[in-house]
Amino acid sequence: MKKIIIAAVSQNGIIGDSGEMLWHSKEDFQHFKRTTMGFPVIMGRKTFESMKKPLNGRLNIIITRNSNYSTDFPEVIIFNDFTQAFELCEEKKYEKAFIIGGGEVYKQTINQADEMIISHMKLTAEGNTSFPEIDKQKWEILSETDMGAFVVIHYVRCN
Ligand SMILES: NC(=O)c1ccc[n+]([C@@H]2O[C@H](COP(=O)([O-])OP(=O)(O)OC[C@H]3O[C@@H](n4cnc5c(N)ncnc54)[C@H](OP(=O)(O)O)[C@@H]3O)[C@@H](O)[C@H]2O)c1
Repeated sequence: MKKIIIAAVSQNGIIGDSGEMLWHSKEDFQHFKRTTMGFPVIMGRKTFESMKKPLNGRLNIIITRNSNYSTDFPEVIIFNDFTQAFELCEEKKYEKAFIIGGGEVYKQTINQADEMIISHMKLTAEGNTSFPEIDKQKWEILSETDMGAFVVIHYVRCN
């Protein structure tokens, strides 16, 4: 099963600010939906809370260190580590699982991910949450698609 990071990143590496998204791009939202639909989406507790409700048509997995954490949504799965999340996706025979943020989660999974699909936004932003540095030695570009306000780059880990 492929572990795929998906994120939207500003030119200066910012992805959010104190739980908030810093831009609202309908095109990027549609790209995110198209790409992840039908697959598991794994996210940090703060990202889940910023979304307020689970993403439809996808298995939503939340990671938290709080063993008593619960939500109002019975369909959401809660784990205390990434290993359990990936194991469940493997068991359920998914071909891919998407890691959808936020900053803390991306930093901890960038060295485990097989691929990354990054919307490089053509803007700079001010915020306290960033995407980890993409080491060009470790990632090969599979495709690059200009979407107007952003460029989607599909990275694959170098062998
Ligand atoms: N631009 C984008 O593509 C994008 C995508 C997603 C999110 N965002 C933005 O990113 C921001 C949120 O990111 P963030 O870094 O603040 O938080 P986050 O990564 O969404 O969530 C962090 C939380 O996840 C849990 N967690 C993290 N590592 C864990 C581990 N190893 N084991 C168990 N639980 C773990 C902890 O929850 P507990 O505290 O409950 O233990 C931690 O506080 C928001 O501003 C959001 O809008 C942007």
